[in-house]
Amino acid sequence: MCGIFAYLNYRVPRTRKEIFETLIKGLQRLEYRGYDSAGVAIDGNNNEDKERFIKLVKKRGKVKALEEELYKQDDLDSKADFETHFGIAHTRWATHGVPSAINSHPQRSDKSNEFVVIHNGIITNYKDLRKFLESKGYEFESETDTETIPKLIKYMYDNRESEDTSFSALVERVIQQLEGAFALVFKSIHYPGEAVATRRGSPLLIGVRSKYKLSTDQIPVLYRTCKLINPNVKNMCNSRLKRLDSSTCLHAVGDKAVEFFFASDASAIIEHTNRVIFLEDDDIAAVTDGKLSIHRLERSASDDPSRAIQTLQMELQQIMKGNFSAFMQKEIFEQPESVVNTMRGRVNFESSTVLLGGLKDHLKEIRRCRRLIIIGCGTSYHAAVATRQVLEELTELPVMVELASDFLDRNTPVFRDDVCFFISQSGETADTLMALRYCKERRALTVGITNTVGSSISRETDCGVHINAGPEIGVASTKAYTSQFVSLVMFGLMMSEDRISLQKRRQEIISGLKSLPEMIKEVLSLDEKIHDLALELYKQRSLLVMGRGYNYATCLEGALKIKEITYMHSEGILAGELKHGPLALIDKQMPVIMVIMKDPCFTKCQNALQQVTARQGRPIILCSKEDTESSKFAYKTIELPHTVDCLQGVLSVIPLQLLSFHLAVLRGYDVDFPRNLAKSVTVE
Ligand code: AGP
Repeated sequence: MCGIFAYLNYRVPRTRKEIFETLIKGLQRLEYRGYDSAGVAIDGNNNEDKERFIKLVKKRGKVKALEEELYKQDDLDSKADFETHFGIAHTRWATHGVPSAINSHPQRSDKSNEFVVIHNGIITNYKDLRKFLESKGYEFESETDTETIPKLIKYMYDNRESEDTSFSALVERVIQQLEGAFALVFKSIHYPGEAVATRRGSPLLIGVRSKYKLSTDQIPVLYRTCKLINPNVKNMCNSRLKRLDSSTCLHAVGDKAVEFFFASDASAIIEHTNRVIFLEDDDIAAVTDGKLSIHRLERSASDDPSRAIQTLQMELQQIMKGNFSAFMQKEIFEQPESVVNTMRGRVNFESSTVLLGGLKDHLKEIRRCRRLIIIGCGTSYHAAVATRQVLEELTELPVMVELASDFLDRNTPVFRDDVCFFISQSGETADTLMALRYCKERRALTVGITNTVGSSISRETDCGVHINAGPEIGVASTKAYTSQFVSLVMFGLMMSEDRISLQKRRQEIISGLKSLPEMIKEVLSLDEKIHDLALELYKQRSLLVMGRGYNYATCLEGALKIKEITYMHSEGILAGELKHGPLALIDKQMPVIMVIMKDPCFTKCQNALQQVTARQGRPIILCSKEDTESSKFAYKTIELPHTVDCLQGVLSVIPLQLLSFHLAVLRGYDVDFPRNLAKSVTVE
C-alpha cells in the first residue's frame, strides 16, 4: 500500500545529497508495504537563486530506480546547501490508473508545480471534483483521484480573499471538500520552507528531532498542549508551571534548529527520532518558521486538540533483516521470542493467573455480554478461527468469527450487549476499521488486538491487547499470527479464572504456554527437512492442505501463505467436507498435506487419510512425534512435538510457514514483496 515520507530541516544545514539520502532511506523503510512506483518533490533552485521552483522526480518500479534517476538530473547540484528545506516522497500502489511515472506521486497543481501533494488513501468524490475543476479550466494529466487535491488547493489559492491566507487555511478548505480516506502532505513554492499535513482515515505521524532547551515561556504551553510523557520535562514543568493561555497550538520550538519527519508508518522515522506525534482524523499540522502547530478542522473544533508526544519503543535493529535472506524468514525464526514477549508480564506461571492490563477494567462487562464477535481479515481472521473453540470452552459464551468485509456486506445485526474483537496486525486494515466503526455506532463494547501502537484500531477501540510481536515487515504475516493466537488464548484464560470446573483445563493450557517457546524452537529445527520437501514440490501447480478441529485454521493459514508468496494454487480444506466435493481432486499427482494431531479429531482425521490413500493420494502428513499410525499411510511425515490440543495450532502452522518460504525462494519470487499485495490494506 502507498507510503508517505517527508523531511523538513529548519536551520539545520543539509546538502541536497543529504536530503536525497534521507528521503530515499525513508521510502526504503516503507518498501515492505508494497508499491509499484515512487517519487519525490524537492526544491529545484539553489540557495542563492532568486527564482524558486519545485522539482519533481518520479519513476515506475523500485525505490532504487528512483534513486538512480535523482542522481541523473543535470539541473540538481547535489552539493548545494540548504539551511531550511522541505522535501516530500511517496511510494504508490496503483488503485486509480496504471503504475506509471505520471500517475505516481507527488501529484501537482500545474506545469509550474506551484503545489505538490503526496496522498495515501482514496478520494471517493474525485470525479465530481475533477469535473468542477475542469470546468474552471484546470487541466488534468494523470488518471489518479489524487490529482484533484493539488488542483483544488491551487483553485483555493487563486481565489483567496487575502494575500495573508496561510498554507494551513488553504489545506483546511481543501479537506472540507474531500470525501473518502486520506493522509496528505503538501508543499508549495508560495510557502517556502513550510509544510502542511493532514489525515482522515489513513495513518500519519510526525517525528520531531531538536537539540533545544525549553525557555520558561515555552514550558507551560508545551506541557498543556503536548502532555509530554518524558518524566524529566514533566517535573520541570510542574515546578515552573504558569497560568496557561487557551492556545490550542503546540509551539514545540522557538527559533531553534529543528527537523520534522512526516510518515505513514513509524518504521520510516525511528532511525531519526523516537519522539513522535500521531495525528488524529481532521488534524491539520503545519510547520511555519520551524514551529509545529496542530489545529482541528472547523467542524471538529470542539474536540480536544492536544496531542501527546510519544516515545517509540521500537529499535531500528528490530526492523532490519539481520542474517536472514528475507524479513519473512527472520520473522518465522523470531517466534520463540515473540510469543514470550506476548506473554511477558501477563501470564504468571507460578500462580497460574493471567492479567491483560488493557482488558481488566472491562472484564465484568465482557462476562455479562450476549456473545463475542471476532472480526478480522486474512491471517488475523485465521487467528480467530484457530481460537474459537477454546474461547467457547473457556468463556462459556457463543463466539462468532467474521471476515470484516463480509460482516459489513451483510449488515450483520450487532447489539449493545455484544463484545466485538478486532484483530489486526497493522491496526489499519480498512475493512476491519470500518467494521469497528459499524459496531461502535451500535454501542457494542469494542476490543482491539493489534501489533501496532498508536494505530487507528488501537486508538478507536474501547480497550484492547497489544500483541507485542515486534514490527512485522514481510507481507506474509507469520509471527503476528502466533502472537494473536496466544493473545486470544490468554483472554480465554483470564475470563475463566474463577470457574472451578475449568481449573484443570486452565492449568493444562498454562503449562502448554510455558513450554511453547521451546517447542517452537524444536519445530524450527526441522527447517532443513522442510527445505528438502520444498525441493520436491516447488514445480507443482497446486497444493492442498487438509485438517479439522483445532487444526482447520492451520490449513487455511498454511494455504494462504502458500498462495500469497509462491503463486501456486493452494486450498485449506476442512477434512469433514472431503466427501462433499474436494475428494474429486485427489489422485496420484495431486500433492496433499494433511494435518493430523493427537487431539479429539484424531480418529476422524484417520478416516480422511484412508479416503485419500484409497484414491491413490500420497499425503504428506504433519503429525505428532508419537503417532505411529498415521505414518504407515504417509508418503512423507513431518513430526511435531505434542502440546495441549488448543495450542497445537501454534506449532503446526510453522512447518507451513517455512514450506511456503522455501517454495517461493525456489520458484524465484520476492518473498517479502509478493506481486499485487501490500502489507497494510488501507483501502476497502
Ligand atoms: C497475511 O499473510 C496477509 N498478508 C493478509 O491476509 C493480512 O493478514 C490481512 O491483510 C490483514 O491484515 P491486518 O492483520 O494488518 O489487519
